Parts: sequence; structure tokens; C-alpha cells
Amino acid sequence: MISDRLDELTDYPFPRLDALIADLPLPAGETAIPMWMGEPKHGVPEIARDVLASRFDDYGRYPPIEGTPSLREAITAWLTRRFSLPEGFIDPGRNIMPVAGTREALFMIALAAVPTEKAGKQPAVLMPNPFYQPYKGGALSAGGEPIYLPCGPDSGFLPDLDALTPDLLDRAALFYLCSPANPQGAIADCDYLRRAVELARRHDFILASDECYAEIYDKTPPPSALEICAEDGDMTNVIAFHSLSKRSSVPGLRSGFIAGDADFIKAFVRLRKYAAASSSFAAYDTAERLWRDEAHVEANRALYREKIDIAERILGNRFGFFRPPGGFFLWLDVGDGEEAARTLWSKAAVKALPGAYLAASREGEPNPAQAYIRVALVNDIDTTREALTRLADVL
Ligand SMILES: Cc1ncc(COP(=O)(O)O)c(C=O)c1O
Repeated sequence: MISDRLDELTDYPFPRLDALIADLPLPAGETAIPMWMGEPKHGVPEIARDVLASRFDDYGRYPPIEGTPSLREAITAWLTRRFSLPEGFIDPGRNIMPVAGTREALFMIALAAVPTEKAGKQPAVLMPNPFYQPYKGGALSAGGEPIYLPCGPDSGFLPDLDALTPDLLDRAALFYLCSPANPQGAIADCDYLRRAVELARRHDFILASDECYAEIYDKTPPPSALEICAEDGDMTNVIAFHSLSKRSSVPGLRSGFIAGDADFIKAFVRLRKYAAASSSFAAYDTAERLWRDEAHVEANRALYREKIDIAERILGNRFGFFRPPGGFFLWLDVGDGEEAARTLWSKAAVKALPGAYLAASREGEPNPAQAYIRVALVNDIDTTREALTRLADVL
């Protein structure tokens, strides 16, 4: 017995890529350069090293799902500092919930937000297209209808809020917004976020603002939906997601948090007590230390900028190259993303992801991201330069 809901969950993009290139050998003597996954390889910050061992004995205890009070305070201090929120606006006891990586929280928020019916119909879950795949997994598992909002160059790679009809908004239970956007790096400015928050309140849905790449940006620091909430002192209907995976290059720590609407967080904590993993005490303490430190984040950001400079020099105006305003992906128009991924693998030993694997197609229409590949700039400088030089040569 396997739920038919799983039928709609297509294979995850990474096994699809493995299948796509399975018949192709690597060029002789080459080792593959991994650029398909957003797994930062800048190294774990040294300041985290000793904390992991210091909680040895606590592996004999169940850690609390809500995290430790001092972690929630460190997160509150970071949010307040980073987004210039008024002191006291975030209550660490009511507005913050640490999570074991934001992926599970992005999935599970749908279970907490999507009711049986909304406006007398099947609830809609709005998301950008292309999108981070757990949004779809959450929507389907919660019985919602995923609505894929086009995010091409015409709308600045963000969903066009003016294109959403009142009927759709009325039956929306949840709207995933991703800024900086994975994969295109677009940043929603305050005006955009303000309109999204207004819509969430007017039509009573949860705005899930996925801000996991907020600390990796080229020129302008991306704002948070929480800044909009601070304007009228109200966090109703808004939940922001942040992660240490990208900010601090520790995807193996599995540590992030959500922040926002206190009533929703209370209900979400209740649900997570049934279903979710809590992190270890060592992970909570490590996270606390990392949220309190900015030096390693600045160094990280500088490294990504340097790699984007290198990409700009090597790629110039080919493949529709543009500097991503946020995040660490290049979103390149190569004509046929699958074909390009196969060529890159077999001729250049570079593993990059076809854009189509991140996007949903409308019936009878071509996949909107079919022409693209996503290239993750996660390796060190020399490896990145080498990979991009090869990419320019073989494509
Ligand atoms: C847009 C986006 N949100 C959230 C995540 C989840 O990251 P984590 O579960 O490591 O916090 C990722 C990971 O790649 C992502 O790309």
C-alpha cells in the first residue's frame, strides 16, 4: 500500500540528473567538478569546532523541539540587527522556532497551513516556477493544489503579483515566496514584499517567505518580510525561513529557524512535536555561536562575489549571463538544458543541473526552464575558474 499522493511527486532533480548522464563516461583522467547542488564547500567555520564535543553527555537526553532559550535569543538578536527591526519586536519565546534544516519546515508548513477546504474549494498553494522542490512536496502531501507562478525574465524572475486573480487568492492557503530566488537569484524589494504581505492578510493565507539565501548577495542586502511586519508592528500571516546551511556553509549541521506569526508558530510547534526531529544540543549550541558571529559570513560573501566576478569575466554576455543579485547560482540560457548537462559531463567533467528539473510544465506546453542550466558556485576559487573555463569551451 503506497499513497497515491506520492504518484504526483516526481523523482527529485538529483536522481534525474544521475539517470540523464548514467550512460556517459567522464573524460579520461578527470574527476568530476560538482556544481549541481547548492552544497557550499567553503568549509565549516573554525569557531564551531569545539562546541560539537562539549555536549557529548547530552546525547543521552532528548533535546527540546523549541531549541534552547539562548539559541532563540541569539536568533532574535541576529534578526533585529540584520533587518533593523525595533528592539523587542521579536519575542524569542513566541515568534521563533528553530528547525532541523529549513527543508523539513518548508515541507511541513503546508501540513500546518492548508485546511481541508478554503472558500468552499480545494485550497491552493502558490509557488514560483521554477522552485525549490519541497514546496511542491508539502503542497501535495497536505492535499493542496500546487499553483505554479511563472517566474521568467519578463517578471524579473519573481511571481507577478498583479496576475493573481481574487478567486485564486481567496482559495490560497499558503504562498511560498523565495527571495533571493533559487535558482535565478532575484531579490524581492520592500515594495514587492509589502504587496505580498497585504495580499496574505486580505485573503488570509500564510506567506512563507523563504529567505535562506539572504546573506549571500552581490550589492544590496535582501530585505525580509519581517521588515514589512515591523512597519505596523504585526506579524500576522507571515513566516520567514532562515538557514545556516548557506549563510555559514554548514549544510551538515541541519540548522535553521522560522520566525513570525506567534499563533501560527504555536500551532506549528504542536504539529512538530508529533512529527519532526529536533536537533541535538550540540547543534543548538553551534547554531547559537554562528548566529552571533558575522566575520565568517562576510568572508563567505566575499568569496561568492569573487567567483561571480570570475564568471562575468569568463562568460561575458554569453548564455544570457547576468550577475545574480542574491544566492550563489548561475542561471544560464544554453538553449537545451538537458543536452548541455550531458555535454558538460562528458566533455568537461562538470556536473550541472538542467533547469527543467526545477520547474513544472503546463499540460501540452514546453517546460518553462527547458533552455536553462543551474550552475552552483559552491567550490573553491580555482576549481570554479577551471569549471567555468571548461563550460565556456564545450558549450
Ligand atoms: C530555496 C531554498 N530554501 C531552503 C533550502 C533548505 O536548506 P536547509 O534545509 O539546508 O536549511 C534550500 C536548500 O538548498 C533552498 O535552496
